[in-house]
Amino acid sequence: MRVIIQDNYDKMSKWAAEYIAARINGHKEARPFVLGLPTGSSPIGVYRELIKMNREGRVSFRNVVTFNMDEYVGLPEDHDQSYHYFMHDNFFGHLTDMKPENINILDGMAADPEEECRKYEEKIASYGGIDLFMGGIGVDGHLAFNEPYTSLTSRTGVRLLTEDTRIVNSRFFGNDPDKVPAKALSVGIGTVTDSREVLVLISGHNKARALAATVEGGVSQKWTCSALQLHQNAIIACDEAACGELTVDTYKYFLDIEKAERL
Ligand code: GLP
Repeated sequence: MRVIIQDNYDKMSKWAAEYIAARINGHKEARPFVLGLPTGSSPIGVYRELIKMNREGRVSFRNVVTFNMDEYVGLPEDHDQSYHYFMHDNFFGHLTDMKPENINILDGMAADPEEECRKYEEKIASYGGIDLFMGGIGVDGHLAFNEPYTSLTSRTGVRLLTEDTRIVNSRFFGNDPDKVPAKALSVGIGTVTDSREVLVLISGHNKARALAATVEGGVSQKWTCSALQLHQNAIIACDEAACGELTVDTYKYFLDIEKAERL
């Protein structure tokens, strides 16, 4: 696992955007580059940077297919808190050359949610899997909507949200946890770790415990993000504020090793 420690959120976002753009630009195969994407406040800075690079002609999305991590059950696409709306508003709507038919987001209004999830897995497989999955995590370490104690080999499916997550996410629903949908469709931990690379953004003091659990704790379904320890190409991009619960030797180790990589 690589842990990239940056001074602040903006630098973390720039680092991650440059990394993703380099991967897309370095993809020379005819088949599309398959990119997994998250929602939330963590990736907004990366989206902003990628949009800028795209508009400056530094990265093209013409040969990119995307799969989003999750969607609330029961919110129509045009609801301003649906992840469809979020992605259009914060990313896709600003790109110059993203093909709408290459955007995949789970349908939270699907009549048969289980079938919707099965089809999603099949579609990912039809592209030969995901090249790079970018993610964010919740304060309880959930990756996508895989709450604590979700199987670390889980696949795309229906998830129940914990009261804690509904309280945290209520900031987007008029601070009323009851307005936050109780269910979501989400890729599984196994879906994410099957990707060839995983890049997770962790920023801010409120994620310090989750970062420590991801990097230093044992692999445990209590912190579903800890499954990344078993991945051969997992990168955590974080800021200083999120490092507060790391031991000093862990913090120094990753700074040292990344300095060495740059030489
Ligand atoms: C939601 C999403 C997650 C996201 C998490 C953290 O629960 N389903 O995919 O990682 O929020 O959000 P934020 O980046 O706003 O802290």
